[in-house]
Amino acid sequence: MITTLHPPRTHLSAARSGALRGEVTVPGDKSMSHRALILGALANGETHIHGLLEGEDVLHTAAAVRAFGAAVNRIGPGEWRVRGAAWKSPVEPIDCGNSGTGARLLMGAAAGFPITVTFTGDASLSGRPMERVLGPLRTMGARTSGETLPVTIHGGALTGIDFLNEKASAQVKSAILFAGLRARGHVRVVEPAPSRDHSENMLRAFGCDIVTDGQSIALGRNRTLTGTGVAVPGDPSSAAFPIAAALLIPDSEITVRKMMVNPLRAGLLITLRDMGADIRQDNRRSESGEAVADVTVRASALHGVDVPAVRAPSMIDEYPILAVAAAFATGRTTMRGLAELRVKESDRLAAMVAGLKACGVDAREEGDDLIVEGNGSPPAGGTEVQAHHDHRIAMSFLVLGLASEQPVSVDSADMIATSFPDFLPLMRSLGAQIA
Ligand code: S3P
Repeated sequence: MITTLHPPRTHLSAARSGALRGEVTVPGDKSMSHRALILGALANGETHIHGLLEGEDVLHTAAAVRAFGAAVNRIGPGEWRVRGAAWKSPVEPIDCGNSGTGARLLMGAAAGFPITVTFTGDASLSGRPMERVLGPLRTMGARTSGETLPVTIHGGALTGIDFLNEKASAQVKSAILFAGLRARGHVRVVEPAPSRDHSENMLRAFGCDIVTDGQSIALGRNRTLTGTGVAVPGDPSSAAFPIAAALLIPDSEITVRKMMVNPLRAGLLITLRDMGADIRQDNRRSESGEAVADVTVRASALHGVDVPAVRAPSMIDEYPILAVAAAFATGRTTMRGLAELRVKESDRLAAMVAGLKACGVDAREEGDDLIVEGNGSPPAGGTEVQAHHDHRIAMSFLVLGLASEQPVSVDSADMIATSFPDFLPLMRSLGAQIA
């Protein structure tokens, strides 16, 4: 069982707010937080993490690596120590909660050890595809049963793999690299388009040789990890919500300090700028191998754009909030190539179209594209939207409600705690009316 540090809220409502103002830091990046715990648990010696996201997804991963034998201690807010170990078969199944990243990365890491482990998760995660990770792990020599959770893996004695990752999925790439740490032979993943490279950056920081050449990522000769310090910067996928709110609410100006601006996560900022957004980056620097900046956003009049499918990997989690921004823009926004959105925490394509329509926005799916027609004025709102127990759908529609004519409520806001436990106090500190 994990202990939630922030009690969740179920039903929330957002009402038209005055200008948002202020400076905030958002919680640590979720992708990096999972990786810091897992690599710390695989490493020799101690890893000291600052800025760990203490959302439910990551707390599940912390509990998981503890069950595999690592020593995991919370020193203070966001500050954790992990001492690595040879992983052992856990006594109980590993519960990954709502987290696809936790499940898939842990499966890869665990497969490298001669252990047997069963992974479980909540109803949403139990419906999500795991074969994309299990297939390559079997090619490497693991035995698996189940295509969706519960999944059981018998690991150990892995061999190398040369894998063409058809989906530009960082989770699949990372699972293979983590399994490959303990495999004999060449381990390489080739991507059709670059996906987020936090695993590569962090493996290097732990002393592992990684050879990258364009979209090919290979493990080098030295695959031993040594514990290190990891400073986790602010999560751009969480910052996306206050950033969008500040763009949409007249006269707003906010700064998100210490936000990660890795180019492979920057698709939303690029798209919003294309739409006319006033977004500035100051103080660009590097922390724990990742680009970080202070990002200042001013309310802006937006216009519709065509978002190409090639941009999807760099903003895959940001389409719900982009669709909200598009609802306030003048003209059509077409977001192309979003098949993967159907297998996220919910079917995000369907959930966004239904919620936007309920708020009076002209939105539709065409194949795997999402089309939003904006008329440059705030949507009507005045409704309750179904969030489908999906944190990003809930936060997106609350942002919509902060700038729409009438308030918008969401039926289930408890899942916000999976990724952004401080969403409510942070948004309120800027002036947002959410209750
Ligand atoms: C993640 C990769 C993405 C993203 C997820 C986090 C990661 O998933 O949607 O929220 O940390 O590697 P895919 O690998 O399925 O694209």
